[in-house]
Amino acid sequence: MKKECLPLKNEEIIQQLNLEQKCALLSGETVFTTRGYKKAGIPSITLSDGPNGVRKQAGAADHLGLNPSVPATCFPTAATVACSWDPALGEQIGQAMGEEAAAQEVSVLLGPGLNTKRSPLCGRNFEYFSEDPYLSGKMAAGYVRGIQSEGISACPKHFAVNSQELRRMASDSVVDERSLRELYLTGFEIVVKEAHPKTIMSSYNLINGTYANENAHLLQDILRKDWGFDGAVVTDWGGSNDHALGVKNGSTLEMPAPGGDAVRELLKAVETGKITEADVDARLDELLTLVFDTHAAVENHSREFDADAHHALARRAAAESTVLLKNEEGLLPLAAGTRVAVIGDFAETPRYQGAGSSAVNSIKVDTFLECLKESGLNSVGFATGFDRQGKPDAAKKAEAAALATKADVVLLCLGLDEIKESEGLDRTDMKLADNQIELLQAVQQANPNTVVVLSAGASLETPWLTHCKALVYGALGGQAGAGAMVDVLTGKVNPSGKLAETWANAYEHTPAKDNFAGKGRTVQYREGLYVGYRYYQTAGVPVAFPFGYGLSYTSFAYSDLKADAHSVTLTVKNTGNRAGSEIVQLYIAKPDAKVFRPAQELKAFAKVQLAAGESKTVTLTLDDKAFRYWNTKTDSWEVEGGSYEIRVGASSADIRLTAVVEVAGTEAPNPYAGKSLPHYESGKVQSVPDAEWETLMGCLIPEDKVRIDRNMTLGELNHSRSPICWLVWLVLHTLLTASYKRGKPDLNVMFQYNMPLRALAKMTNGAISMGMVDGIVMEAKGFWIIGLCRVIVEAVKNVILNVQLEGRLRNS
Ligand code: BGC
Repeated sequence: MKKECLPLKNEEIIQQLNLEQKCALLSGETVFTTRGYKKAGIPSITLSDGPNGVRKQAGAADHLGLNPSVPATCFPTAATVACSWDPALGEQIGQAMGEEAAAQEVSVLLGPGLNTKRSPLCGRNFEYFSEDPYLSGKMAAGYVRGIQSEGISACPKHFAVNSQELRRMASDSVVDERSLRELYLTGFEIVVKEAHPKTIMSSYNLINGTYANENAHLLQDILRKDWGFDGAVVTDWGGSNDHALGVKNGSTLEMPAPGGDAVRELLKAVETGKITEADVDARLDELLTLVFDTHAAVENHSREFDADAHHALARRAAAESTVLLKNEEGLLPLAAGTRVAVIGDFAETPRYQGAGSSAVNSIKVDTFLECLKESGLNSVGFATGFDRQGKPDAAKKAEAAALATKADVVLLCLGLDEIKESEGLDRTDMKLADNQIELLQAVQQANPNTVVVLSAGASLETPWLTHCKALVYGALGGQAGAGAMVDVLTGKVNPSGKLAETWANAYEHTPAKDNFAGKGRTVQYREGLYVGYRYYQTAGVPVAFPFGYGLSYTSFAYSDLKADAHSVTLTVKNTGNRAGSEIVQLYIAKPDAKVFRPAQELKAFAKVQLAAGESKTVTLTLDDKAFRYWNTKTDSWEVEGGSYEIRVGASSADIRLTAVVEVAGTEAPNPYAGKSLPHYESGKVQSVPDAEWETLMGCLIPEDKVRIDRNMTLGELNHSRSPICWLVWLVLHTLLTASYKRGKPDLNVMFQYNMPLRALAKMTNGAISMGMVDGIVMEAKGFWIIGLCRVIVEAVKNVILNVQLEGRLRNS
């Protein structure tokens, strides 16, 4: 049936297909490929992870990074490159990754990830840029421009409010509309409007009771209508809950390969009027545009790339992202010939990327020990120093302390081990392992000239800071990160990175400490707007290292600030005696605001390179996001009129220049007039009472209890009423506990533990149908016999229907 109302770009092709063929095209054929349809000239395309390098699986494919992939360059992760505050660098990395992807015949590269870091404990923070949406959005836009310059598609993810790994496929992020818009969506808005990604990945979670992938507010009202996105929305792997609702509400392609069941679901939905054929056509049109566009680019692309050049880029990127957090007595940089003792397991076996779907099979991996050989430093020896899995080891500690006495300076490589940072699990604390802290103390006693070289993709508590003279944060530096670190330590590169997230003094100080990651299915975002520095600075909570902080081997002076409501200029001078780069940050504040807001917010930044003694004029533009706030009364962006402070500085806590500008307002009514919101007015949001949060939300707190339904997770099966389900839970729980004890994350088990029952039908390539899942749900409800019978009947039905369907698709 033809729909006159749709201006379809691919109308001619769509007309050649029957409804079943159309529906079939809207889900994947294998874990990482779409269905093709040769007769209509529709090719199949490949989608591959990921955010810091290509992970194309040539053999058995999975979405957790378990099976090996084709070798590719492993760039520093997003959390690292964010510290460069340099979208142009992001663009160069994106371009290199796009080149490698296209060379490997990948049409869609699944990244960058740009979720706002709500809590330091999110296990995937290493894959995300920042706690600030403006910085995240600008960095991600750079990546997307770079990736897409090769003709393929980037796929920013995970849209949206995906802030944790616990129950990641079935947790409901309950967040007020203003925080949703200002904090969790602004980064995506920037990337969509400024870099025009051809695809975007919807997240696993629900937002205010509706799955992101079938959320009309998110995908239609905001993404497509407000922001003008005209590309394809791809589900996260297994993230489709109700495929038909997804299609109706703007989700284009269900991944990975749900099999015939998903096709039948759509057919039935059209027959029953749940969705229309026009909905299917609209999604198919988006998909075909993507397929033709990127397939042509891939076909015409060279199969070669310069691996050495990409390694060099990865090294430069890591060096430009390294943050010097402490440098007492100017201990760094180290002069050639300095006698150094190298201590720490990470010097030999680097921690340079995170675990999970982003894990790249690196072309080569530099180690600190190897790179040191060409540094001009004089190594007196190496000691592993500690057990990587955290076991106390007095002999290793003693050996390290003895070695430390022989050197001028100790380079002590510490960090988080593999179990701490992985897709599929959140961290349980922000601590460095006790055995590493004890080692640091022993080494410092042996030699006070101790430099800590830190590998971690997320912030840490640093009560041990007094035990080192210098602290250099290399984050997760990618395959060439070790060389970059050596370049910084020796002064070949003058560090210029600045933190893209605040380092709190203690986890207990973080704003979401009581609500992360939720006790049940709903996760309460009670802290509202006050995430990261927005919280610490408004509530007056001291931190270890503020957002935007980072030292250099030189110094910079700021002067001559001139500002109006559109643009700001100032002069930055390098007042030291070596070349360096400074990241100039602009925050906006409105101390007399009537509509509550954080004490200050980042609204512009620039990185400026200066030779020793050189001065440059820096111009910062204030865009449409500079003064706006989301008004829940008018349901639109508004500006409160009056005077605003422009604060320019070297970090969020080191403001060097201020000016006041007058801004015309939009005269909207104050949405909070007459409401009692004292915690939100003061920013002291760690313990917002129920009633106040309900006032902010404009609704009652949703009920949170385990329900026995398709979305019950396997980790919740102990709440079921079936011995078989209890057994499954027991097995999984035992395996999970054992993997924690081993100190190595078992991603498969972790994934299954947090997986809802319905995902069985979404991730088994058609082997399990939703009917079978409904049988399992009956079983879990205590209808043991009927449940089991239903599973068996549905299984037989599924096999027959799948064979028939695949036959029809092949022969039609
Ligand atoms: C992750 C995505 C990833 C996908 C495919 C999912 O588990 O959340 O980020 O792109 O798998 O591997």
